Amino acid sequence: MHLGLIGNGNIARGVLAGLSEPGAPRVERITIQVLPGQADAALKALPADLRAAFDEIKIVDTLDGLLAASPELVAECAGQAAVRETVPALLRAGIDTIVVSIGALSDAALHHDLCDSAVDGGAKLILPPGAVGGIDIINALRIGGDIVLRYSGTKPPGAWTGTPAEERLELATMDRAATFFTGTARDASAQYPKNANVAATLALAGAGFEATAVDLVADPAAPGNVHEFTAEAETATVTVRIVNRPSAGNAKTSQVTIYSVLRAIRNQTGPLVI
Ligand SMILES: NC(=O)c1ccc[n+]([C@@H]2O[C@H](COP(=O)([O-])OP(=O)(O)OC[C@H]3O[C@@H](n4cnc5c(N)ncnc54)[C@H](O)[C@@H]3O)[C@@H](O)[C@H]2O)c1
Repeated sequence: MHLGLIGNGNIARGVLAGLSEPGAPRVERITIQVLPGQADAALKALPADLRAAFDEIKIVDTLDGLLAASPELVAECAGQAAVRETVPALLRAGIDTIVVSIGALSDAALHHDLCDSAVDGGAKLILPPGAVGGIDIINALRIGGDIVLRYSGTKPPGAWTGTPAEERLELATMDRAATFFTGTARDASAQYPKNANVAATLALAGAGFEATAVDLVADPAAPGNVHEFTAEAETATVTVRIVNRPSAGNAKTSQVTIYSVLRAIRNQTGPLVI
């Protein structure tokens, strides 16, 4: 299988490493799209054992280069701008695409463009659960009627630096948990775009961006990045609590997100989908 990757950061490197392990999905060829001008540096930075694990690893620095390579499946591991700039064209070219920067879909116009592009190209837009779980059951429950879903995202105060939480809390000195945002998944995604992925994933799978309630919490005692939600439907009430550990390459990304992309690749390439 020929896999395309957009981005050469923490998730992309973790996916490459995972694909080189015994028992991994069978991927022989890889094309990686990096930022313009970074192809040579990215090629040099590839560890020799990773290069040796695949028949071919090619690096391109434009969307045209990625399209010309004709990968069978692409995984976006780069950021919201990359979703906007590259994914519609990939889908229109008929290439199934896994999107990890799911917060991008809180932009309703982009969401519709991606869906239209997938229909036009006969391709699939694949949204892995990433850092959260329980997506299967809330998405199934939605078939039976309305869902009421409330999500709470709790992180250590340092994880909220560089966000509007800084204007509401003394992140460096706070000594107890504080909720600094309560609102819809739409507003949470717009105001906290770097933390939008989980709220957006839950909204897309369940009740939608306006009907999904979000609380964001800074807690000095948080044991990791904690995602909790309760979904109430006529036929079931679901409560999920996940405590995520950071990945080695980027403390803001949970290790399970890398595994979630690998799982999506396995489901697309293997005989069993689970
Ligand atoms: N769905 C989830 O639950 C979830 C969880 C964690 C992270 N994420 C998202 O995954 C994305 C990547 O995370 P990461 O930890 O690998 O980040 P990272 O910063 O380590 O890596 C991102 C890489 O993408 C590259 N890049 C950026 N824009 C690009 C573009 N237009 N074209 C090609 N390359 C580009 C950067 O140079 C960098 O190498 C982020 O958008 C993050 O929000 C999603």
